[in-house]
Formats: sequence, C-alpha cells, structure tokens
Amino acid sequence: MSKLNVIAEFREDHRQVRDGLLEIIDALQSKDVGKAREVLGGLNSLVGPHFRFEEENLYPTLRTFLGEYVDQLLKEHDGVIDTARACAELLKKDTLTDEESKQAANAARALLVHVSNCDGLSILTERLESKELDQLSEKFAYAREIGLPLLEWAETVRKK
Ligand SMILES: [Fe+2]
Repeated sequence: MSKLNVIAEFREDHRQVRDGLLEIIDALQSKDVGKAREVLGGLNSLVGPHFRFEEENLYPTLRTFLGEYVDQLLKEHDGVIDTARACAELLKKDTLTDEESKQAANAARALLVHVSNCDGLSILTERLESKELDQLSEKFAYAREIGLPLLEWAETVRKK
C-alpha cells in the first residue's frame, strides 16, 4: 500500500473544508437550508478523522516545537466542535430567520479562521523527522479508515 503523504493530505483536507464553509456561507445567505445542511454533513464526515488524527497524533508530536501552545490548539478544537454542533442543530430547521442565518454564517466564518490557523501547522510539520512523518502517515490513514464523523467522535471517543 502506498504511503499517505501527511502534509499534502492534511492541506488538501483544509482546502476542502475551506470550500465547504464558503459554500455553507453562500447557501445561508441565499437561505438554502437544505444545501447548507448537506454541505455541513459532508464536512462532518471529512473533519472527524482529521481532528482525531490531530488530537491523538499530530498535536502530541508537535509538542516538541510548540510546547504548551498545543493546549491552546486543543481549546480551539473545543470551540470548533461547539460551533459545529450548534450549526447542525440550527440547520435541522427547514427555514431560518434573517437573524439565524446571519448568526450561522458568522459561525462558519469563525471556522474559516481555524482552518487557516491549522494549515499554518504544516510548516512546522515539515520539520519533523522522516520516521515521525511515517508514523503520522499510518495514524492518519487509520483515522480515515475508522472514519468517525466529527460530532460522533466528539460524543464518544474524544470524551474518554
Ligand atoms: Fe486541521
């Protein structure tokens, strides 16, 4: 089996999340709740393994460079999960008020900031030893294989 390129895949995930969030913002602005819900569902599946890999493997490895700043990254994830949960809850409705769609679009923008911050970690990841990158590659592939969506992972494995 060919090895997964951690940095390339990590960044590709971010591009997909960026595009998805922009799509959600668009959909919310045009009050297309169905579309926003559908895109959010796709992001939930994509981001689950990504977050899991980050928290279980990448962040601990990056502690060599970042030290306790890693704790801040974990806190940022708490915020992302809360926002995603609130958006999913809101998008269960069939129609949104102006205020609700504005709030949800703002929440999606806040997530965009996280995507951009997280992508910055790739320049640190590049400095890891090739042995460490190989190990990360296996772990990333594993998280994807298990494929727990974000909110499901947050409610189960992450809580333990
Ligand atoms: Fe990330």
